[in-house]
Amino acid sequence: MRTDTGHVFKLEDYRPSDYLIPRTSLDFRLSPDATRVTAVLTIERREDVAASAPLVLDGDGLTLLGVAVDGQALAPAEYQATPDQLTIPKPPAAQRFELRLETEIAPSSNEALMGLYRSNNVYCTQCEAEGFRRITYFLDRPDILSVYTVRIEAPHNEAPLLLSNGNPVESGALADGRHYAVWHDPFPKPSYLFALVAGALGKVAGSFTTLSGREVELGIYVEPGKEGLAGYAMDALKRSMKWDEQAFGREYDLDVFNIVAVSDFNMGAMENKGLNIFNDKYVLADEETATDADFANIEAIIAHEYFHNWTGNRITCRDWFQLCLKEGLTVYRDHEFSADQRSRAVKRIAEVRTLRAHQFPEDQGPLAHPVRPRRYREINNFYTATVYEKGSEVVRMIRTILGPQTFRAGMDLYFERHDGEAATIEDFLKVFEDVSGRDLAQFALWYHQAGTPNLTVSSSYNAAAKTFTLEIEQSVPPTPSESRKRLMHIPLAFGLVGAGGKPVAWTAVDGAAVEDGVIHVRKRRHTVRFSGVSERPSVSLNRGFSAPVTLSVQQKADDQFFLASDDSDSFSRWQAFNTLLTDALIAAFRQVLGGKEPASAARLAELAGRIAGDETLEPAYRALALSLPGEADIARDIGKGIDPDAIFAAREALARTIAAANREVFWALYDSLADKGPFTPDAASAGRRALRNILLDYLSLLPEGTALAAAHFRAATNMTDRAAALTVLAHRHAGSPQAEEALATFEARYRGDALVLDKWFQIQAGVPGAQTVDKVRTLMQHPAFSIANPNRVRSLIGAFSSANQTGFHRADGQGYRFFAETVLEVEKRNPQVAARLATAMRSWRSLEPIRQDKARQALLQIANAENLSADLRDIVERTLA
Ligand code: PHE
Ligand code: ZN
Repeated sequence: MRTDTGHVFKLEDYRPSDYLIPRTSLDFRLSPDATRVTAVLTIERREDVAASAPLVLDGDGLTLLGVAVDGQALAPAEYQATPDQLTIPKPPAAQRFELRLETEIAPSSNEALMGLYRSNNVYCTQCEAEGFRRITYFLDRPDILSVYTVRIEAPHNEAPLLLSNGNPVESGALADGRHYAVWHDPFPKPSYLFALVAGALGKVAGSFTTLSGREVELGIYVEPGKEGLAGYAMDALKRSMKWDEQAFGREYDLDVFNIVAVSDFNMGAMENKGLNIFNDKYVLADEETATDADFANIEAIIAHEYFHNWTGNRITCRDWFQLCLKEGLTVYRDHEFSADQRSRAVKRIAEVRTLRAHQFPEDQGPLAHPVRPRRYREINNFYTATVYEKGSEVVRMIRTILGPQTFRAGMDLYFERHDGEAATIEDFLKVFEDVSGRDLAQFALWYHQAGTPNLTVSSSYNAAAKTFTLEIEQSVPPTPSESRKRLMHIPLAFGLVGAGGKPVAWTAVDGAAVEDGVIHVRKRRHTVRFSGVSERPSVSLNRGFSAPVTLSVQQKADDQFFLASDDSDSFSRWQAFNTLLTDALIAAFRQVLGGKEPASAARLAELAGRIAGDETLEPAYRALALSLPGEADIARDIGKGIDPDAIFAAREALARTIAAANREVFWALYDSLADKGPFTPDAASAGRRALRNILLDYLSLLPEGTALAAAHFRAATNMTDRAAALTVLAHRHAGSPQAEEALATFEARYRGDALVLDKWFQIQAGVPGAQTVDKVRTLMQHPAFSIANPNRVRSLIGAFSSANQTGFHRADGQGYRFFAETVLEVEKRNPQVAARLATAMRSWRSLEPIRQDKARQALLQIANAENLSADLRDIVERTLA
């Protein structure tokens, strides 16, 4: 484990390395406890660097067995080696020389899952961001692009399959039952994209013919016996390859494309060139084991990693500050892909819900950072919702500002201009300035300035003058180390909505640039006046969520109700209803705190019933509209003095009101949506299941609800329905015999399937109430649980701490205490996973004072532990600051 050095890396300190490594040849002799790695590196001094410049290579926990330059072993006085660095103070004077390094590593004891490790007896690697230095000494930074040749040798019976990046070159048998394979990747790449996999795996094969007629062999490798679960992933891969050709003109560039699913993985998946490595959770699926959400995630992540081949691999990042250059852009691309494959309107609502649930709290709390950070202590902690999701929103805004054609021209120029390079955000913005002739300097603040901008908007109509006026004011709240903010360029899509949802015409506008339904907010205040407006409109703002901002709109409830039923923009229509729900929930929260019964929300409940039954709306859309803002969403919108128990009570009360008011409609719909015919994972079928399952959630609150949920569970023929019913039973009817029986049935049925049991852990970790912390402790002793496996840890501990508001934030602090202990326990093996878990505390300052104090104590308990890893120390200290 790397302990904290306290060093802060700064963007302004970037300078190119003195040396380059144009060629890298690696030879692995695999063995679980002592793998030998021989690296032969062609080292080249840059033209403008003095011959006396020392060569300093990165390492991390390495054991050096030998080092030679141009075939001559170096004497001990000629180099300095520590586990974390190799220095050759006086390298040869020649501009190019060959460095040969021999290291020994122990994959089987690598529990941090960075570098070369073992998962289920399979050797695999994870090198992003700085894992390659755990394999050999190297210039382990993304601007060092090298052409790799990799030879792997292992006993055939232990590792019949030997994979690396690029194309296969050669393979053969050796003495003593050993064998080898050689791979060559012609595309220069940074070390973080290196990968190796070796072991016994089953294969699902496929093929794809690119637009220009290149035949690509596709392989998805899974644990033997699980081949039947990789069909959906293979199909998603082919659709991704086709889509990238059509939408962005991007073709695949090697003879083979391989994906390997492993069961121990810190993140979702990894885009290593030609050899993507996946968390098996995002590959394996069938109707029996995966929910519709799992299918959608698999499709999106397969696409995401594949799209990285151009946005990340062919064009990579100059340094890790530029992480959003590949991640924000690739998320944007996978969002567009899913929107095209499924329903665009539904996809957008789901994206915005995710952004608000994960990125907004990050941007509004102690861990806030710009999409392109200027400093970091541990880069692993910057794979965040801000870099990924807000980074994607920024790309989306560029498209909104430029229009689709110019945006595409900019992307084409980006690929043409920077192919084969390690680029920066400035390079990215420049292509769009060049194709559009626009100045994006103010827009660029979206990359440089942290915090969620707020727009305050009020409107007025002058019937006599036929003018409609919007007063818009922007502000960006202060964030850590950025107290003063500059004014942003915010593209605010809008509509003036009249009777029947029809657009209200206007003849002229002044006060801001208005183009194609977008107001360009650039100043602190704009008075935007529309003239020639013959009726009083309702205004629909931030249509399609054109900018990732919060809105404070002074608008009458009547207008909100009107937009919620009549806005022609489906996103804004959803938004209007969601705002009404949020307002009602916040009001109810205050009533509960004041010891009152929440006021009735009859009008809202009636509208919920109308939306549920509106056949002109897609079922998936209706399901999203009916799912109430989560407890954490409500807490975020309240902002401070949070008492999660009061939020829970308020939310329960509204759910009951809606259920009771719509009993007949909901029942009839629930019955009519019952599955007929065989299961298909497509978006339309998934939408019907989603609607039926949210109706179940409401109906389960009425008398006979427990029996209904139990019947739903028994009748389920797929995991979506089964998991939904189990959640309703466990969360709404905790402790009932029906809930206990369903949990036991589920456990017995899926005992041998770790990924499915994760759902069982997760559902139980989410049971509301004070008792759950003890249940989670008990479940940690379950034979299927393992603190070394990131998926298990996230399903049980992660779900409890980040998704169970009443359980985790128990007023007596027991949830926090358990959390502190467990984070430290996880950290002993896997600092990266521990640090990510610890971010669950990021909103602690918004709690009411008693909980706040208990939360601080738990954070201090972590901070005061000895030998804290760089990962965990960084998160905890920033959270406490
Ligand atoms: N680069 C990966 C992705 O977003 C994420 C990742 C980061 C995986 C670091 C592993 C380690 O696609
Ligand atoms: Zn990515």
